[in-house]
Amino acid sequence: MYKAFFKLARNPFDLTPDPTYFVSTRRHNEALAALHYGIRRHKGFVVVTGEVGTGKTLLLRCLLRLLKESKDIAYAYLFNSRLSPTEFLQYILSDFGLPASGKNKSELLLDLGQFLVSRGSKGLTTVLIVDEAHHLSEELLEEVRLLSNLETTDDKLLQIVLVGQPELDQKLDSVGLRQLKQRIALRAQLGPLDAAETREYIEHRLRVAGAEGDPNDLFAPEVIQAVYRHSRGFPRLINTVCENALIIAYARQIPKVSVDIVEDVAREFRLDMNFFGEAEGSGTHGEMDVQQAAKVLRDLYSALRKPVARSADLNVPVSLEASEYEPNI
Ligand SMILES: Nc1ncnc2c1ncn2[C@@H]1O[C@H](COP(=O)(O)OP(=O)(O)OP(=O)(O)O)[C@@H](O)[C@H]1O
Ligand SMILES: [Mg+2]
Repeated sequence: MYKAFFKLARNPFDLTPDPTYFVSTRRHNEALAALHYGIRRHKGFVVVTGEVGTGKTLLLRCLLRLLKESKDIAYAYLFNSRLSPTEFLQYILSDFGLPASGKNKSELLLDLGQFLVSRGSKGLTTVLIVDEAHHLSEELLEEVRLLSNLETTDDKLLQIVLVGQPELDQKLDSVGLRQLKQRIALRAQLGPLDAAETREYIEHRLRVAGAEGDPNDLFAPEVIQAVYRHSRGFPRLINTVCENALIIAYARQIPKVSVDIVEDVAREFRLDMNFFGEAEGSGTHGEMDVQQAAKVLRDLYSALRKPVARSADLNVPVSLEASEYEPNI
C-alpha cells in the first residue's frame, strides 16, 4: 500500500522470517555458526533457545539454505511438535522421503535406523531439526534422546537440532531429562538487540526493501531510538512498530516517519513504560526487565503474526572457526 509512496520495492518490516532480510548480529551469527559447525562436525545435539520473536525460526531458515547447498546433507525439519511418538517418527521418515504411513513404531524405528546406517557408511550427514521444541512433551524428548543413541563406535548417525523458547531450557533441566541434557554438545542463545544493533537492523531491512538513498531519510536516528525504546530490541516488535509507523506516515502523507508517529504506534499497541512493568522515570533496563517484558510480549506477539510467504537468496556472512564453538556444558 505504502511502497510506491516511500519508493520501496518490498515491505521492509514483514513479519515472515525471510532469510533475505537476515541481519547478522553477533548473537545470530554465533548461533548460526554453532548450528552449522555442530552439524558439519557431527557433534550430535545442538540446542538454541531464545525469547519469543528473537529470530529463531529465521535462523533455522538461514541454516536450511546453507544445508541445501551441501549435497551430502539430508535433513528433516519439524515445526509441529505436538505429535504422538508414532506420528513424530512418521513425519521424520516422510521428510526423509521414506514410506511411513501404516507402519507401527518399531517398523518406523527399524527403517530409520537402516536409513541412517546406510547414509553413515557413505560418509553422509543426516539431520533432524525441530523448531518450537519447547512444545515437545517429555515423552517426545525421550524419543529424541533414543534417536541420538543411533551411532557407530566413532560417529553419531543423526545430528539433532532443537530450537525453542526458554521453556525448553527449563524442560531440559528436569530430572527426567538429565540424560538428554548431558548429550548436548553445543548451545547458543538469542536475545533482544541492543540500540546499535536495532539501528543496523532497521537500516538493513530498509536497504533490502529497496529504499533509495540514505535509510535515515525515512527513519532518522532519533526515530530509530524511539523504536528501540518501545520495542526493547525484540526483532518482531521492531517490525511491528516500524510497519505501523510507515502506515501512519503514509496515511498522513508525510514522507518520513517522525518520533511522534512512533509514540502513537507505541500507545496504540500499549508499549508504554507501564506495559513493560518498568518503574516510572527509569531510563535503563536490566536483564530482569527484559525478561519480564518478553513474558508480557508473548501474548501480544501471537496476535501480531501475519502469514505472508516470500523467498529469495541468502548471503550469510558466517564465520565457522571451530575453536570458537566448544561445548559449554
Ligand atoms: N537477525 C535478524 N535479521 C532480520 N530479521 C530478523 C532477525 N531476527 C529476527 N528477525 C525478524 O523478526 C521476526 C521474528 O523472527 P522469528 O519469527 O524468527 O522469531 P522466533 O524467535 O522464531 O519467534 P517465536 O518464538 O514466536 O517462534 C521475523 O520477521 C524475522 O524476520
Ligand atoms: Mg519461531
